[in-house]
Amino acid sequence: MSRIVYVNGEYLPEQDAKISVFDRGFLFADGVYEVSAVMGGKMVDNAAHLKRLDRSLSELKMGCPVPLDDIPAIQRRLLDENGVEEGMIYLQVSRGAADRDFNFPAEEKPSLVMFTQARTVAENPKADAGISVVSQPDIRWARRDIKTVQLLAQSLVKEAAKAAGADDAWMVEDGYVTEGSSNNAFIVTADGALVTRQLGTDILHGITRRAVLEIAEEEGLSVEERPFTIKEAQGAAEAFSTSASAFVMPVVRIDGKAVSQGVPGPVTRKLRARYIDIARRTAA
Ligand code: PDD
Repeated sequence: MSRIVYVNGEYLPEQDAKISVFDRGFLFADGVYEVSAVMGGKMVDNAAHLKRLDRSLSELKMGCPVPLDDIPAIQRRLLDENGVEEGMIYLQVSRGAADRDFNFPAEEKPSLVMFTQARTVAENPKADAGISVVSQPDIRWARRDIKTVQLLAQSLVKEAAKAAGADDAWMVEDGYVTEGSSNNAFIVTADGALVTRQLGTDILHGITRRAVLEIAEEEGLSVEERPFTIKEAQGAAEAFSTSASAFVMPVVRIDGKAVSQGVPGPVTRKLRARYIDIARRTAA
């Protein structure tokens, strides 16, 4: 069965949806994207994702073909057209088609593309068992706070993880964990403090990261926004990652070493349950 996808104002069967070979998203990775989770047919924290999209666009001086305020209606129609109850909705803006030139075109015609992915997100057997990660050098560019479609480095570390028999990779720069291949990295210290790298240009400012920090504060957990090493993470009480696609995902093995007992810990399980509960209730 074919999906309906959105391409520049049209809702089309996916096999009929076309983007130019000259699209700068294709030629230069000159594009930005967002992924929102869908629960009960509604989007989780979508306003925050669109706000980050706006920031990514402005950092790259890229326009959007439609006003940002019009995007939720397009997303909702696409979810309806595809009958998606649970899963993801992806959107991408690229600088559009122009003859190949490193400089931006004088007249930009940005492209907007969206598609849905139906799948279960809340019920996830991986979350029950926890996942394994391996460390990988962070070989990405220096503006990781901009959510661009240049994801080859992330694909490479994910492939390296797969080859090593692990589920995911945590990237390391100058001896410290930056983030996961497509998620933010957290640990819980022996005395119960939540640690995650501070915001900067070296990581994506995760929407789920922020929501989890808010929940942690409500729960009275102490939070330290600072870098940590793989060694500290291996010796931590708990570890987990956060993203729109996996929510709060327990990490139970790092570079082959079990974190504590090698099972999801109580703080992680509580944060996951609370996050999913809030996400379900506030999805719009
Ligand atoms: N990735 N860090 C990176 C490098 C990411 O690609 C992502 C999200 C995150 C988490 O951000 P958020 O909580 O806003 O999803 C952190 C999405 C899910 C993806 O590329 O599919």
